[in-house]
Amino acid sequence: MAAAVLRQVQAPKLLPVSWFLCGPRRCVSSNFKAADLQVQVTREPQKKPGPSQPLLFGKTFTDHMLMVEWTKKTGWSRPRIQPFQNLTLHPACSALHYSLQLFEGLKAYKGRDQQVRLFRPWLNMDRMLRSARRLCLPDFDKQELLECIRRLIEVDKDWVPDGNGSSLYVRPVLIGNEPSLGVGLVTRALLFVILCPVGSYFPGDSMTPVSLLADPTFIRAWMGGVGDYKVGGNYGPTVALQQEAQKKGCEQVLWLYGPDHQLTEVGTMNIFVYWTHEDGVLELATPPLDGIILPGVVRQSLLELARTWGEFRVAERKVTMKELKRALEEGRVREVFGSGTACQVCPVHQILYEGKQLHIPTMENGPELITRFQKELKAIQVSSGLTTLIMSPTPPPMPVARSTGIFCARES
Ligand SMILES: Cc1ncc(COP(=O)(O)O)c(C=O)c1O
Repeated sequence: MAAAVLRQVQAPKLLPVSWFLCGPRRCVSSNFKAADLQVQVTREPQKKPGPSQPLLFGKTFTDHMLMVEWTKKTGWSRPRIQPFQNLTLHPACSALHYSLQLFEGLKAYKGRDQQVRLFRPWLNMDRMLRSARRLCLPDFDKQELLECIRRLIEVDKDWVPDGNGSSLYVRPVLIGNEPSLGVGLVTRALLFVILCPVGSYFPGDSMTPVSLLADPTFIRAWMGGVGDYKVGGNYGPTVALQQEAQKKGCEQVLWLYGPDHQLTEVGTMNIFVYWTHEDGVLELATPPLDGIILPGVVRQSLLELARTWGEFRVAERKVTMKELKRALEEGRVREVFGSGTACQVCPVHQILYEGKQLHIPTMENGPELITRFQKELKAIQVSSGLTTLIMSPTPPPMPVARSTGIFCARES
């Protein structure tokens, strides 16, 4: 059911970046090809974590990584799968000084049938290329990169964890590697992909809600900025406020924007409010992609699922703290939650705003909608029947290795 729903809906195209931002650069970028992959298998495989070992996010890495180099003069090198290793960077490397750096985050899941599937990886490839163009880093062929990632996962497939809710986190990165201190277009870049086995975000089956600090003096992103791109510079500066939130007994930050304190994102998640709107209509609302919101893959998937159910209004609209407070006073709020690859859907039960704790009755309301979304997403991610359903009815342009059990859930 869930997969059929996602199959019916077309993925909306991400906003194009104006050509002048990086148009001329695109002419000089060649593409690398998965068919040229060189594979060097490690001679010293690491011990894999046991099934009962806790897998903290981003702490354990697999045996191999993908590496592709680019220079203005020669274009992309042949892609390599090589033993996981440190990078050697010039101390003036532009990624280190000026944040010429972008990344992606997606997950591969092992199903009951032991097949491994990536969840909607085409959306991550689209978003990564869009970030590259925003930073004037070299273009690449999204299909070829995805095929290289698929091959990397194939090499490290024994690292994909098997437990309930666990997965293999895939982190593609593209950095400017200019060995000079001038701020400008780079003539060297590195694209690499590393893999981490990760445990369930919610150990056991219980969903733990989070509390949020909403402080309008700190802003994550602004109009005309880069908040809607997945670039490293958006994340480093949030650490201090994360600390501030923890000092005040909150787990995450609710990012507000503008004089009317619009809700924009939660930590590194998109935000949703499921409520009866002031016009009396039951609604699922999330802020529109107006330039300050990261276009999340899970956000898009939830919107598509909910629209296909057709059981309540689905709105991409601004929601302000004033509206949320009034709706709480009038008992109209059912659930507030974040969405993202790490947790899928994460309930919110408390917001500290202007010195007052606002209680959100998410858990008292089931949480019905959150649980339904979690179930539907999981069904798509791990079930063979459903994954087959969401694969394109026409053959994909690159080989899907049925024999090795690595599947990519295709967009329709
Ligand atoms: C700022 C921000 N918003 C939202 C998301 C959720 O995006 P996705 O659903 O693609 O994981 C992320 C996670 O990458 C993020 O960093």
